[in-house]
Amino acid sequence: MRKILVVGNWKMHLNTSQASLLVHRLQERIAIRRDVEVVLAPSMLVLQPLSVQIDRRKFRLAAQNAYFRDEGAFTGEVSFTMLRDLVHYVIVGHSERRHIFSEDLDMIRDKVAASVRNEITPILCVGETKRERSDGETKQVLHDQLMTALHNLTSREVGQMVIAYEPVWAIGTGDVAKPDQIEEIIDYIRGYIRDVFGPKASKELRILYGGSVTPEVIHGFLDVPGVDGFLVGGASLNYYSFANIVDAAYKWQREKGEV
Ligand code: 13P
Repeated sequence: MRKILVVGNWKMHLNTSQASLLVHRLQERIAIRRDVEVVLAPSMLVLQPLSVQIDRRKFRLAAQNAYFRDEGAFTGEVSFTMLRDLVHYVIVGHSERRHIFSEDLDMIRDKVAASVRNEITPILCVGETKRERSDGETKQVLHDQLMTALHNLTSREVGQMVIAYEPVWAIGTGDVAKPDQIEEIIDYIRGYIRDVFGPKASKELRILYGGSVTPEVIHGFLDVPGVDGFLVGGASLNYYSFANIVDAAYKWQREKGEV
């Protein structure tokens, strides 16, 4: 059984003192649980202070983005190399990066490669827009996103990474995907990985769901076969909601008797 992974993507919210207060509250509320991995993805600015503040038995850190070159004249960017001692994970290819900052498939491929090269686990986000879904293009879109992003990786490297299925239409909208829609896509992703990288990579790879995840809807998602955790946006900014999501994941795993 793969360990459940809950990642809080704080996006461009919380300055240093607000971030520190949220971590303080989360540390009080979340117990040490070896069977659920909890990851915080704050802004770049607060990664360093949080790395000192967090209880490492409870939390790991992720960056929300990084640039694929290791160093050089790239004003405003931070490289994976600079992050390698600070974070376990980097989110790559989030739909906000793809759509607002025009990151294309090749850029995302280079970022995944840089992440692996720097021994940071990439959390690769994939997902279709509302129009792509209504035009019946969901699987084609996912196929293209996966094929380019994983280009040149070994089966072992793919098995160790994380893929987050985040339908663009479910992000920040309250419009959550239905469990059967999530199951179908997760099956598709695992099938793709099995066909291209083999059964071991497909079995080991962790796949998350993201898009309007809250404590209220999490129960329906935990039972979706193949979901290994969640990438949480808005609800991760509230200590009560985020801790409730972590608790629900923990209880679910205990009830399954698979810890
Ligand atoms: P919301 O949970 O706010 O919909 O955001 C999801 C997301 O984009 C996480 O990366």
